[in-house]
Amino acid sequence: MRAKINGIEMDYETSGQGVALLWIHGYPLSRAIWSRQVGELSGDARHIAPDLRGYGQSEAPAGVYAMELLADDMRALLDANNIKQAVVAGLSMGGYVALAFALKFPDRLAGLILSNTRAGADSPEAAKARNDNADRALREGVKPVVEPMLGKLFSAETAGAKPALVEELRRILFSASPNGVAGALRGMAVRPDVTAQLPSITAPTLIITATDDAVIPPAESQKMAAAIKGSTLVEIPDAGHLPNMEQPAAFNKAVRNFIGRI
Ligand code: MLT
Repeated sequence: MRAKINGIEMDYETSGQGVALLWIHGYPLSRAIWSRQVGELSGDARHIAPDLRGYGQSEAPAGVYAMELLADDMRALLDANNIKQAVVAGLSMGGYVALAFALKFPDRLAGLILSNTRAGADSPEAAKARNDNADRALREGVKPVVEPMLGKLFSAETAGAKPALVEELRRILFSASPNGVAGALRGMAVRPDVTAQLPSITAPTLIITATDDAVIPPAESQKMAAAIKGSTLVEIPDAGHLPNMEQPAAFNKAVRNFIGRI
């Protein structure tokens, strides 16, 4: 599907029936990372899986993609589909967007899934490195910026044992656009620390992490789980930063149990 969302052409897919479940992908990825969720959980929810601005088939305007702007995009996408409330699921940068959405539009939230993400902001050094990489992506193209991520996103075990999955991830990473990469990097560099606001989240919340996530370690998820009252924390074994792709059965089981309770 394609629609004008918050001023840009956004591409997204919808399928299934039940509670609305909005899937927000991470950086520098696309909705393709959710194929094992949208497919296998089709009987459990009404899925809405967008390509964020700058990614997949969506329009890639120049500029800073602040997490609040991406959250506005998500609210407009729900509006366009006449969805009053959704379970909002975000992975990594998608989790930053899901947190921004939860704090900005609490009345639109039926539940929150925070996978392999964190509530804190970047250190000044990390923010500078992101801005340097944003310049580089615009100057040289996305390859030198996204290629190093291929070795970091999956656990070493996944990378060794599942070459077809690594190839699938490579295709997704290399389909990113320079504006998309630069816009998201600049947006993440200025994102606020929302740790102090976590206790204000009252929607049912599932927090997912994975034992071998080298990008955002499980300790970040444990901190969020301690701050969001009544939240459920699930740690997926034998997976890195993308447990939804690396261990889809365990990931989907956690999501199914959670939405079954909503
Ligand atoms: C992501 O997977 O979305 C990014 O690695 C998150 C980040 O760089 O902070």
